[in-house]
Parts: sequence; C-alpha cells; structure tokens
Amino acid sequence: MKQFISVKDVSDVNALVKKALAYKADPLVDKALGANKRIGLLFLNPSLRTRLSTQVAAQNLGMEPIVFNVDKEGWALEFTEGAIMNGITVEHIKDAAPILGNYFDVLCIRTFPSLQNREDDYAEKIIHQFIKYAAIPVISLESATLHPLQSLTDLITINESMAQNKQLTNKKPKIVLTWAPHIKPIPQCVANSFSQWMTAWGEADFVITHPEGYELSEEYTNGATITNNQAAALKDADFVYVKNWSSFKEYGKVACTDANWMLTNEKLAQTNNAKVMHCLPVRRNVELSDEILDGTNSLVTKEASNRVWAAQAVLAEILESINNKIK
Ligand code: CP
Repeated sequence: MKQFISVKDVSDVNALVKKALAYKADPLVDKALGANKRIGLLFLNPSLRTRLSTQVAAQNLGMEPIVFNVDKEGWALEFTEGAIMNGITVEHIKDAAPILGNYFDVLCIRTFPSLQNREDDYAEKIIHQFIKYAAIPVISLESATLHPLQSLTDLITINESMAQNKQLTNKKPKIVLTWAPHIKPIPQCVANSFSQWMTAWGEADFVITHPEGYELSEEYTNGATITNNQAAALKDADFVYVKNWSSFKEYGKVACTDANWMLTNEKLAQTNNAKVMHCLPVRRNVELSDEILDGTNSLVTKEASNRVWAAQAVLAEILESINNKIK
C-alpha cells in the first residue's frame, strides 16, 4: 500500500480486516516492522480517538510517533498556487511539506472541509498537496470528504460482531446508515466513507436513509438503496449506523432539524435487534438517545477501541511496502 486516503487504496478489503483482527489478538507480533521509522501525525483540526489510536498502533509496530497540532502550534499554511501571501497565511505548503517528507517516513494528516467551497473540498485540495509535496506515504486521519480509518474500523467491528452472533453467521446482513439531527453543520466525510466502504465490501444489503435535502454525492452511494422513509429502512436491520451530515446539494447547509430522526429504543424494536454504531464524538439526546448509547445494543465503545487495529493494519501495509522498496 502506497497511501491510505480511500478504500481505493486497498487491494483486498477482507484481507485488511483479517489483518486488523490478527493484531487485536496479538498486538506486538510485528514490533520489529517499524523499527527506526518515524511517523508524523499532523492535525489541522481536533481529534481524540484518531490521534491516540494511531499513536498506539505506531508504537505497537515499533515506530516513533510525533504529533503536531498545526492548527494551534504551527504557522498558518497557504494552499493556493500563485498566492500573494500578504494576508494571514505565513507558509506555503510547497515549502513546508518537503521538509516533513525529510523528517518522517510516513505522514498522517487530519484536515476537515471548509463546508464553504464544495469544489475545493471535493477535489481534496489540501491532502493532495501534502501527498504531492511531501513525497512520502500519506495516511488520511479524516480529510475533506472521507474518513477511511473510521470506515475500516466500522467494517472490522461489523465482522467481529457477526462472528460472535450465531444468527448472523451465513447471512447477508442488513446495514442501515441513518441521518441524525445535530445543532450545526457537520462534514459528509463519515457518511461518504461508510457508504464507499460498504459498497466496495459488497457483502451487505446496504440502505441509506435521510430527510429530503441530505442526498450524499453519488460518487460514494452508487450501489446503496436510498430512502427518505426511516421506518421502512430500519425494518429488520442487523446494524444501524447513526450519523449527522450537512447538505451536499445546498453545500454545508442544515436542511432539516427534525428531532424525530433521532434513534430511540422504540425505533430499534422494529429492527432485527440491531447493533447500533456511531463514530463518536456524539451529542447525547440530540444525535443519539442515552437509552441507546447506554444500552446493550450499542457498539460504540468497541468500535472506538477497534480504531487501534485498523490503524495498525494500515500502517503495517505501508511499512511492508517501504521495507520492500528499501531491499
Ligand atoms: N471518530 C473520530 O474520528 O474521532 P476523533 O475525531 O476524536 O478522532
């Protein structure tokens, strides 16, 4: 694997899931793989799980992780070609990224979308410039449109949960992504990414439900069943993935604030005793009710804990590719 910014960078999704679960069973088995390799984790936006799980994963592989909160401690970066830098930006990505490429063996970036300019966000202007100018393998820690480490974790958690539930063995699971209310505009990344991974995996009956106005980019939803009828979507579901996102069409806008879209135990009763997933952080009793989050059907803690194994599997693939190149 040369980079990890989308499911398209993965040659075999099931093999990557298997590798992650093998690391969960034996975390330090490849402690020598990353010896003498340094990984830079650059955050242009906040994080708890991604930041910490990727550091733990890197250390499990013997790497030295260095975290840099660019948003709080770094110079304000410029990403526009030919910019006359007489405003608030201090350093051009063309000058900063090659240096990062010399300091590190692998570079990880978290960079959220502007939610102002759809063209720039969906062109992944920022992460693509890090890839271009750093010239070392880049891993997305969530970019403008996708969150692949989260989606890999979600698929690991679904596979693990299916293996532990006899009713789901040898069954094509029904997996529903449902929009949930929120108080402010949220990126489409997690929803885009989950949809991209579910359709690439291809082993589920995958349904997306949202209010009118929240259609996601077709680039990521091709192959999914899409409906505005949440009750119909939830019927007989085995897994329900809850997530808010802002409008793609009316870019970055909040098109509906209907609190009735929040998942409750009453709605869960219509499912096949579905397990409930959310990437976290979650606004309790806005996006998801206490009764679900604190109930026995919630997978959210397991899901967040599995972030380590997803990151470790991806890092191992990248390290194997670097080590093969060195030989
Ligand atoms: N799910 C997730 O990416 O969490 P953080 O934003 O805390 O990293």
